[in-house]
Amino acid sequence: MKLFQRKKNPAADIEDIRRQGRLPAHIAIIMDGNGRWAESRGLPRNAGHARGSENFDRIATLCSELGIRYLTVYAFSTENWKRDPEEVRGIFDLFRKYLKKSCDEMLARNVKLRIFGDTSAFPEDILALIGRAAELSEQTTGMQVNVCINYGGRDEIVHAAKSLACDAAAGRISPEDVDAAAVEARLYSAGVPDPDLLIRTGGDMRVSNFLLWQIAYSELYVTDTLWPAFSGEELCRAIISFAGRDRRFGGYGKSSKPRR
Ligand code: IPE
Ligand code: IPE
Ligand code: MG
Repeated sequence: MKLFQRKKNPAADIEDIRRQGRLPAHIAIIMDGNGRWAESRGLPRNAGHARGSENFDRIATLCSELGIRYLTVYAFSTENWKRDPEEVRGIFDLFRKYLKKSCDEMLARNVKLRIFGDTSAFPEDILALIGRAAELSEQTTGMQVNVCINYGGRDEIVHAAKSLACDAAAGRISPEDVDAAAVEARLYSAGVPDPDLLIRTGGDMRVSNFLLWQIAYSELYVTDTLWPAFSGEELCRAIISFAGRDRRFGGYGKSSKPRR
């Protein structure tokens, strides 16, 4: 069954998709391929991260304009500490720059910002900027951007399990109270609906420890395009692909019914 009729212009397709209520409420992106983008141009890897960061700004702005409610991006994993310290320093400098700019522009852009990940070892100035961004986010009503830094899906689940164990040991909850909602309430993403669409750039067919709990039923879109080159047009193509899918969640499809 065709879920919607394709038009020539992707913007017109997106308008149709919006009218039909088929836009993804939550898009998650594994922004991969910065290093390969730089290396293929004979540039240092950090030049790729800088271009990747600029592209993130463009794609986030477009998502907000399209009416996406939540955007969650993978910026630095718990495993990325294996990289050269110089590269890690460069990434954290970009992160600092991004946080400053976000705080300056948050009210004008009317977006919210949350950081998912283990921030406990972050430098003081970055923690202060994260705190400021959280305060400003209370005054805004638009799209929520979740940036995953020092984030690992397994780490997040271990963190939630520890919190449940502490609550149980202290008598605040009983073992019977442990259900999916109790786990979800202790994830970094508490209160955020699961991603509808997960995009990975850079072509690798893996999830690399991203949102392991939350992507149980997300629709996947993997492209060979490297993150700094991922365009607004390709974002529209991913959304169009999403809108044409039949999400069954373990049940029946749109066109199949049980026969008795
Ligand atoms: C993604 O780009 C950004 C981070 C992991 C920090 P990469 O740096 O992994 O780029 P590739 O995959 O090596 O090309
Ligand atoms: C995933 O990319 C992490 C981010 C995009 C931040 P990686 O480059 O770390 O993933 P692997 O190592 O190829 O699985
Ligand atoms: Mg990579």
